[in-house]
Amino acid sequence: MQIQEKPPAGTPFDWIGGEPKVEALVERFYDLMDLEPAYAQLRAVHGTSLDNARQRLFWFLCGWLGGPQHYTDRFGHPMLRARHLPFAIGDLERDQWMACMRQAMEETHVPQQLRVALGDAFQKTADWMRNK
Ligand code: HEM
Repeated sequence: MQIQEKPPAGTPFDWIGGEPKVEALVERFYDLMDLEPAYAQLRAVHGTSLDNARQRLFWFLCGWLGGPQHYTDRFGHPMLRARHLPFAIGDLERDQWMACMRQAMEETHVPQQLRVALGDAFQKTADWMRNK
């Protein structure tokens, strides 16, 4: 596949390639979480099914990247930290979330420059999710 490295014009949502690419990223992220022993503690924080998480992270990321506001249209303000309080999240879970997301971004061919920018932004959000 030809990988397009475009300069950072427009929204990150456009740059990544719109909904099909956000969906591919989210699917790969949760597939890896399910499959890779390196993410076992992260997987264990989640319930039996990852379907709800897949759907909601896809909706959330579309808006977070500057695309359609699917998540807030349905649920209002994301209040991400509050919504994560029922789950025990420490450094280990944060680090596995980041490693899993970085691997998913690489494997779904998110442009390298965008991967770096998103990596920084995800890191700040993931740090903020810690609650233990
Ligand atoms: C730091 C480590 C993290 C852990 C361990 C974690 C874990 C979880 C868990 C267990 C759920 C519930 C899934 C379900 O309902 O089945 C969830 C939901 C969600 N997570 Fe995370 N998460 C983390 C970081 C993040 C980050 C960095 C983002 C955004 C960039 C994010 C976005 C979301 C969203 C949008 C939902 C759905 C919230 C809702 O509507 O209830 N999470 N997460």
